[in-house]
Amino acid sequence: MCGIVGYIGNREAYPILINGLYRLEYRGYDSAGIAVLNDNIQIHKCKGKVSDLEKHIANNKIIGNIGIAHTRWATHGEPNDVNAHPHYSESRELAIIHNGIIENYLTLKEELIKRGHEFRSATDTEVLMNLIEDIQKNEQVELVEAVRIALSQVIGAYAIVVLSKDNPNMLVAARKGSPLVIGIGKDEFFLASDATPIVEYTQNVVYLNDEELAVVQLGEELKIKTIKNKDKIPYVQKLQLSLSALEKGGYDHFMLKEIFEQPRSIRDSFRGRLNARKGDVQLGGIIDYEQKLINAKRIIIVACGTSWHAALVGEYLIEDLARIPVEVEYASEFRYRKPVIYEDDVVIAVSQSGETADTLAAIELAKSRGATILGICNVVGSSIARMTDAGSYTHAGPEIGVASTKAFTAQVTVLILLALRLAKIKGTISTSRFYTLITALESIPKKVENTLKVNDQVKSIAEKFMDVRNFLYLGRGYNFPVALEGALKLKEISYIHAEGYPAAEMKHGPIALIDDEMPVVFIATKKGTYEKVLSNIQEVKARKGKIIAIVTKGDTTVKEVADFTIEIPATEELLVPLLATIPLQLLSYHIAVMRDCNVDQPRNLAKSVTVE
Ligand code: G6P
Repeated sequence: MCGIVGYIGNREAYPILINGLYRLEYRGYDSAGIAVLNDNIQIHKCKGKVSDLEKHIANNKIIGNIGIAHTRWATHGEPNDVNAHPHYSESRELAIIHNGIIENYLTLKEELIKRGHEFRSATDTEVLMNLIEDIQKNEQVELVEAVRIALSQVIGAYAIVVLSKDNPNMLVAARKGSPLVIGIGKDEFFLASDATPIVEYTQNVVYLNDEELAVVQLGEELKIKTIKNKDKIPYVQKLQLSLSALEKGGYDHFMLKEIFEQPRSIRDSFRGRLNARKGDVQLGGIIDYEQKLINAKRIIIVACGTSWHAALVGEYLIEDLARIPVEVEYASEFRYRKPVIYEDDVVIAVSQSGETADTLAAIELAKSRGATILGICNVVGSSIARMTDAGSYTHAGPEIGVASTKAFTAQVTVLILLALRLAKIKGTISTSRFYTLITALESIPKKVENTLKVNDQVKSIAEKFMDVRNFLYLGRGYNFPVALEGALKLKEISYIHAEGYPAAEMKHGPIALIDDEMPVVFIATKKGTYEKVLSNIQEVKARKGKIIAIVTKGDTTVKEVADFTIEIPATEELLVPLLATIPLQLLSYHIAVMRDCNVDQPRNLAKSVTVE
């Protein structure tokens, strides 16, 4: 979702800003813009990609050492040149970029119109810009104070950066509910929505907290205060992010690179936490909350999108192994449906980005009811990671492709560790079973490597189905969330309609869709409900559906019925999601490439959904 970049220092701002926008492209956006100060504020912006902005700017020479830039994912007002950010104030003496939503913008706008202000765009952002200018002029206060007063009148979420003609050595930034990071270089500062545009210049960063305002000024130390005007001491952290992790490394797309990274990312998720020789599993981050977890009346897992699918695997795992009741909730529903939350509930937020607005709001709600809040996040230092009482990072490394792949398997890995750990301390698992499972988990990265060898086979299957309009994905037990995730991947990046269903539920509806053109992907691995799934396969076959089956290596029964079978190595039933997901990721990837879709930045989607 929207991306922010800002620079102030002695270098030319333009190349740093454009480069930063390219780094933030993965978040998803529909227009881009830039403002650089050189005597006057010069804004260039347009609908489309950052490369379109570069073309749009073409022969204009943009000189200046201070500027702001933005990628916009439309909320208020359609994606067009006018609504793109930055926005000038009415006098053109100020410019602003903004992520988030100002919920009371209409009321504020009406008041400003009454006072004679005019607006060029349909955005909430321009309202905030003019409010700041109005306060600055009418209350005769400095820029920083005007920003602070304006933000105290605002309801909603924001990360903003303000550029001012009269303050050529200063940028003013603030955040509430939308992330903002400040990079501190030698006589220069970088601002961004996440660390990706900053990492190549400096490792020293400060993550702004909610309702904090930052003043970056050339020749001065970074100053932070709260919206309520209380000074804060900036907490400088070292970035643990490498530049190579942000590049494609020879792959055609980030998504493919990330799919192929899974042997490594899964290993990194359990590295140092699992010791098969000693027969032990530890999650250092939640050690102090283990008793709370095993004594919890129930665990509620809140998440969105792919993370919700990982959470569903988590429910099966924790109930299966640790016998603690688990509920999995869409964060967006949970926060608005008046849920019953007890003080002895433990709420676990699962999120790749750690910034998803609905997930954040869900944990805020649970926190206000006294529940214990844990997080499973990928992005270090993200809002959810900082808001929770404790948690575990997934260590998948930066995920740039909008459609989540390695983050999913990393989340499932951490949930497996959690379930195993809870089962062990609660005594709901035998020593031999525990040992079998951790040994099996340790061998998963190797098996993922073997699973990835199906890539060419999956590509040839993709060729046969690239033009269909619908897909059905079916699985049972641990493979039901895998079916949901397979379907989500396909629709996200190829725009083919796909549905995931529990295989047995098929006869309560989806079976009506099956004809000789309907591809049905079955996850039909051995053990568990294998025999039952076989019956479901027969039901589809009888109706002439086209069957693509993910099977355990050596399976011959399904092969006789299915049109295509893809083999994955045998493993423990509860670890199958870590393997079975991979051919489905590859299937959607190849179909999307063949359909000429923008795999890494699918239309209308955003990597980090910072608005509700
Ligand atoms: C967006 C992304 C999905 C992701 C979901 C939840 O919709 O496109 O890939 O699963 O947000 O994001 P989170 O960062 O909380 O896991």
